[in-house]
Amino acid sequence: MTTKQKTAYVCNDCGADYRKWQGQCSECQAWNTVSEIRLGASGRQVNRARSGFAAAADNTVKLLSDIDLDEIPRISAGASELDLVLGGGLVPGSCILLGGEPGAGKSTLLLQMLCQLATHHPALYVTGEESPQQVAMRAARLELPTDHLQIMAETSVEALCAVAERKRPTLMVVDSIQVMHLEDVSSAPGSVSQVRESASMLVRFAKQTNTVLILVGHVTKDGSLAGPKVLEHMIDCSLMLEGSNDSHFRTLRSQKNRFGAVNELGVFAMTDRGLKEVANPSAIFLQRDSEVSSGSVVMSVWEGTRPLLVELQALVDDSHLGNPRRVTVGLDQNRLSMLLAVLHRHGGIMVGDQDVFVNVVGGVKVLDTSADIALILSVVSSFRDQSLPDDLVVFGEVGLSGEIRPVPNGQERLREAAKHGFKRAIVPLANAPKKAISGMQVTPVRRITEALDVFL
Ligand code: TYD
Ligand code: MG
Repeated sequence: MTTKQKTAYVCNDCGADYRKWQGQCSECQAWNTVSEIRLGASGRQVNRARSGFAAAADNTVKLLSDIDLDEIPRISAGASELDLVLGGGLVPGSCILLGGEPGAGKSTLLLQMLCQLATHHPALYVTGEESPQQVAMRAARLELPTDHLQIMAETSVEALCAVAERKRPTLMVVDSIQVMHLEDVSSAPGSVSQVRESASMLVRFAKQTNTVLILVGHVTKDGSLAGPKVLEHMIDCSLMLEGSNDSHFRTLRSQKNRFGAVNELGVFAMTDRGLKEVANPSAIFLQRDSEVSSGSVVMSVWEGTRPLLVELQALVDDSHLGNPRRVTVGLDQNRLSMLLAVLHRHGGIMVGDQDVFVNVVGGVKVLDTSADIALILSVVSSFRDQSLPDDLVVFGEVGLSGEIRPVPNGQERLREAAKHGFKRAIVPLANAPKKAISGMQVTPVRRITEALDVFL
């Protein structure tokens, strides 16, 4: 009997499925990205997996209230910043995708983690990009305990699953998913169909054997994971390791987490001894000169479950271009344009003929809208060349009509700032604390003009 070869058509950009070829992807509107993939054996694999699931399904129907929550043991990842981002540790049978640009430190982070955990849990490091010698050399240089970690150089998923079936590791790292391939899929490693099929087989393997699976994924220049979005549906937790090359700080952010809060941020520093966790991130990002120059202000942004104090710098200078420049590092550029329009319309300050550059110090990416008011203050401070007090902290969202809107967790932000020695704060009216915070003079404001009047 011949099995019918199944084909599917998949968009290389977004991973959407089609039954027929088409020139434009209806999902992401990209042209010429739909290509044919062959699903030779994976049909068989699906059937095999189904029969496995059927056997398990009999005694698994329970009332939600009967499920014992303590039954899910968490494996500590060995570093508190990592545990924080993971939502409390690694969950057996879960799949984690660790993304990041080349050189971000993904391999280093995972090697450090696995070497430490291998002393208590059987762990397997599958390297498809580096040779075992290279990995061993790095581990030796970082002085990691190497006598328990099993390592294997392999790019075939079938071979890998066969080995893992015998070794039964509790933790398995696959570095990286882009070099893995299934023999039955005809396209090249790294293509959508290979990544998708390889990952789905590995994920199935992890679920059936209760293994913690960590996949490394590279990101493209625009910051999305190379290959398909489809990966994000399959995995339980998606982490992104970010940081610019000129800064040795790396931030680890969870973008999706079935077991914890998203947008939780862990901070690491890349040293000559590998990645070290930074226990008190605010203290690092706040290292400022004793004399604060104009355009600099400290803001409190909310990252996951905790406040982070970071310095924001702006430089406003006469433009010699017809179209003045608006450059942001670590912030959304559209948000800057919007806030400059608000500043003009409701604050009466016109910077239309000025180049505006803003930078979040330390290479942190800020997604929180509570940075708005800091942005306005730093731009005006630089424009007027007046510096703000060095013990001032600000947070608050700015609306299109120039009003200052409240943000969540005002109290915690103020308390964290007080802990770091800040003595003055500009906050939205609704975030003003009911009980005074000792050592902190809080100025609640309603409109951007009020915020500007305080010090500028
Ligand atoms: P790596 O983990 O190989 O990155 P990825 O797997 O994400 O591509 O990290 C490589 C970078 O880290 C490289 O630029 C050198 C730097 N590095 C250090 O600065 N110190 C160290 O101890 C190590 C191991 C790497
Ligand atoms: Mg690597």
